[in-house]
Amino acid sequence: MNYRHAFHAGNHGDCLKHAVLVWLLRAMQRKPAGFLFLDTHAGIGRYDLESGPASRTGEWRQGIARLLAAAPSALADWLALVRASSPTYPGSPALAAMLARPQDRLALCELHPQDAAALRAAFHRLRHVGVHERDGWEALRALLPAPERRALVLIDPPYEAEEEMAMLAAGMAAARARMPGAVIAAWLPLKHRAPQVALLGDLAQRGIRDLVLAELALRPPLDPARLNGSAMLIAGPPFGWEDGLAPVLAALAGVLAEPDGGWTLRRVADE
Ligand SMILES: C[S@@+](CC[C@H](N)C(=O)[O-])C[C@H]1O[C@@H](n2cnc3c(N)ncnc32)[C@H](O)[C@@H]1O
Repeated sequence: MNYRHAFHAGNHGDCLKHAVLVWLLRAMQRKPAGFLFLDTHAGIGRYDLESGPASRTGEWRQGIARLLAAAPSALADWLALVRASSPTYPGSPALAAMLARPQDRLALCELHPQDAAALRAAFHRLRHVGVHERDGWEALRALLPAPERRALVLIDPPYEAEEEMAMLAAGMAAARARMPGAVIAAWLPLKHRAPQVALLGDLAQRGIRDLVLAELALRPPLDPARLNGSAMLIAGPPFGWEDGLAPVLAALAGVLAEPDGGWTLRRVADE
């Protein structure tokens, strides 16, 4: 396990993931009933951008720094949470913890021992948060179905190993089989098209239905050696996803994409 998210926090991939995640959390909270937020690959929760490892790569300067400066109104909800978390940048566990209502519950899984310890130190005092030093793929099977009977699952692996796309397809299938009503969102890197096409084919073969893809391309995904953008693949998207997410994606692309980049939001598997 070489990947450390602290080097990449606040980059364009995080921006897409976290802006969409905040919309999903709010959509789940339209109903009063509580839900489980399961973060299978949680990281450390909050990131120091100015002086931590992120300062060495500076990726966040081309991501969250530009969005905070431009402050498009479609991103106001998420950016307010980012500002409220200052001087640290809030990762997925922190965003979910900030928005959690008393009836909601968070299960945060992180396998790297040092990162799991940091995650536990940051969140263990919160009554409704469970931190698990365990394999996120295995947690998908162990922690679902949620007793709350409602769940939002974020799957955000580092994609260090080639088989992680196949693990994602198997994990989504297992989660949907255990809890068909769960909303499952997975972050996907966009270097070139082939891995995404293969993943969608794998999911179709497994019979996974009701999928939408929200994609931010900084530039056409032609150079497989570069992270040219990323996407959120959402199974069972909450009602209103088209009208809710289109302005979010347009705002991200308006600030972050190069002239030949852009965004798409489309259904990739029927309900
Ligand atoms: C992309 S980062 C997560 C970022 C986080 N979701 C966020 O948005 O703030 C991926 C994390 O997964 C962890 N990880 C890698 N393999 C794992 C596994 N099998 N189970 C759980 N965590 C794992 C890594 O240590 C890393 O912290």
